[in-house]
Amino acid sequence: MDDLKAKWLGAIGEAADEASLEDLRVQAVGKKGEISLKMRELGKMTPEERQVAGPALNALKDEINTALAAKKTALADAALDERLKTEWLDVTLPGRDRRTGTVHPVSQVWEEVTAIFADMGFAVAEGPQIETDWYNFDALNIPSHHPARAEMDTFYMHRAEGDDRPPHVLRTHTSPVQIRSMEAQGAPIRTISPGRVYRADYDQTHTPMFHQVEGLAIDRDISMANLKWVLEEFFSAYFGTSVKTRFRASHFPFTEPSAEVDIQCSWEGGTVKVGEGDDWLEVLGSGMVHPKVLSAAGVDPAEWQGFAFGMGIDRIAMLKYGIPDLRAFFDSDLRWLRHYGFPALQVPTIRGGV
Ligand code: DAH
Repeated sequence: MDDLKAKWLGAIGEAADEASLEDLRVQAVGKKGEISLKMRELGKMTPEERQVAGPALNALKDEINTALAAKKTALADAALDERLKTEWLDVTLPGRDRRTGTVHPVSQVWEEVTAIFADMGFAVAEGPQIETDWYNFDALNIPSHHPARAEMDTFYMHRAEGDDRPPHVLRTHTSPVQIRSMEAQGAPIRTISPGRVYRADYDQTHTPMFHQVEGLAIDRDISMANLKWVLEEFFSAYFGTSVKTRFRASHFPFTEPSAEVDIQCSWEGGTVKVGEGDDWLEVLGSGMVHPKVLSAAGVDPAEWQGFAFGMGIDRIAMLKYGIPDLRAFFDSDLRWLRHYGFPALQVPTIRGGV
C-alpha cells in the first residue's frame, strides 16, 4: 500500500501539464487503472484480509483523487500566472503627447466676419480665383487703358501660342464676385464674398496672395448712410468694442461716390489699439456701386442702387490679434501656427446683439 501511495502521489506531484495529469488519473483510478483493478481483487480475499485492505484501498483512492484535484488547480494557477506575466500592461505609463493642429488666424477671422454679416442678413457668395479680364476689370468699369489696371500688379495666365484672346488673370480683388452674384441673383441682393486674391507685391504688409472680403447690398433705396451703419456695426462686433469710422472721399472706378474708410485707433508703445485714441487706420474701400457696374451685371441702375465695399481679411486679423508681419501668415511655420492659431472648437469672439 505504501509503495502504491508513494508511486502515484510522486507521479502526480511531478506531472508537468494537465494532459499528463489526465493520463495519470486514467492509469491510477480509471476503470482499468491500477487502484481500480486492485479493488476488484478484494473479492478474492478472505474476509479478514478484505477488512484491512478494503478501507486502505478506499482511503488511497480518495487521497489520489484529492492529489489529482489539487495538482489540477496548481497547474491552472501556474498557467494563469504565466499568461499574466506575458500580458502585463503598465497602466500607469503616461499617454503619448499628440499634437493637435490649430485654426489659422485667416480661417478664424473669415468665420468671424461671416458670422457677423450673416447676422445682418448677408449671404456668402463665392467666385473663381482665376478670372477673365472682363469680370476682374471691364465689368467693374476698369477699361484696358485705365491706370487702375496697371496699379493692380496683376498676374496674367499663360495663353497658348497664337491664341490672342485676352489672358485670364488671378483675380486682383474680390470685386468681380459682385458682378457674378448680381448676374446670378439680380436685385435686391445682400452678399459678402470672402476669398483669396493675388497681386505681384511682397513686403512686410504685402504678400502675392492675400484675402479680401467684398460686401454688396443692392435695393431700391440703399444709401451711404446704410453703408456707414453696417460698417460701424461690423467693426464694433468684430473688435468687441464700439469703433468710430471716418469716411474719406476717394476714387474707385466701380463706385460713385467712393470713400476710403478709416477706423479709430491709438498707437502706444508701437502697438495699435482699435476703438480708442485719435488716430485713424485705413481698412477698406467702399462706395455706391457705379451705374455702369450695375448695367454690366444686368441690373437696371434706374431702378436699383446700393453700396459695395472691399476689406483686407489678413489686415483686420493682424489688427485684432496683434500679429505684426503679414508674410508670416503664409510661411507655414509650426511655431507661428501654434502661437497665433486657435483651438478648433473656439467660438469666434464677436460681440453679440447686432
Ligand atoms: N476692390 C478694391 C481693392 O481691391 C477694394 C474696393 C474698393 C472694393 C471699393 C469695393 C469698393 O467694393 O466699393 O482695392
